[in-house]
Amino acid sequence: MALELGLEHLPACLALDQRALGGLWTAAQWSSELQEPRRPCWGLLEGEQLIAVACGWLVVDELHITVVAVDPARQRQGLGRRVLERLLEQAAALGAAHATLEVAASNGAALALYGRCGFSTAGVRRGYYRNGDDALVQWRRLHDAQEVRIAAHS
Ligand SMILES: CC(C)(COP(=O)(O)OP(=O)(O)OC[C@H]1O[C@@H](n2cnc3c(N)ncnc32)[C@H](O)[C@@H]1OP(=O)(O)O)[C@@H](O)C(=O)NCCC(=O)NCCS
Repeated sequence: MALELGLEHLPACLALDQRALGGLWTAAQWSSELQEPRRPCWGLLEGEQLIAVACGWLVVDELHITVVAVDPARQRQGLGRRVLERLLEQAAALGAAHATLEVAASNGAALALYGRCGFSTAGVRRGYYRNGDDALVQWRRLHDAQEVRIAAHS
């Protein structure tokens, strides 16, 4: 079952970040994500090891998703969807009206996940990433947790 992550999960977050994202955030960045009240972070643990994570920032009525990652050895088993769905449910319960994020246009796995979770492409940011890749802005409305659940399971 997904659980909300706290500072005690910092080493596990850093380890998953290394395995799945090649070290996206520093320890200082992760500890902010894990401590700030308006930055929810959900994960799935297997023993001490974190195998999936989804985090975001609640800004006014919007959830800005900052990271979704699954252990490379555990991808395509529905885990990304589980943690993302839990993050969306909590954001909706806390009053977020919509959710958004940027994803590299070349990241087919992430685009498949977001599409399955009810997101659609709302815009393109040309050359957004350091390697020159375009970012696709993903967006979805969050009416309530029930609607999120229906979209995620359809
Ligand atoms: C993107 C990522 C989080 C997806 O996690 P996951 O646990 O493998 O995804 P799920 O198993 O929950 O799959 C969700 C849906 O996306 C589809 N999907 C996942 N990976 C896919 C791939 N490589 N190709 C095609 N479809 C894919 C699944 O088939 C599933 O659809 P379905 O319900 O119709 O079967 C994972 O690939 C990852 O950690 N990638 C590296 C980090 C990253 O790029 N994060 C996103 C940054 S924006």
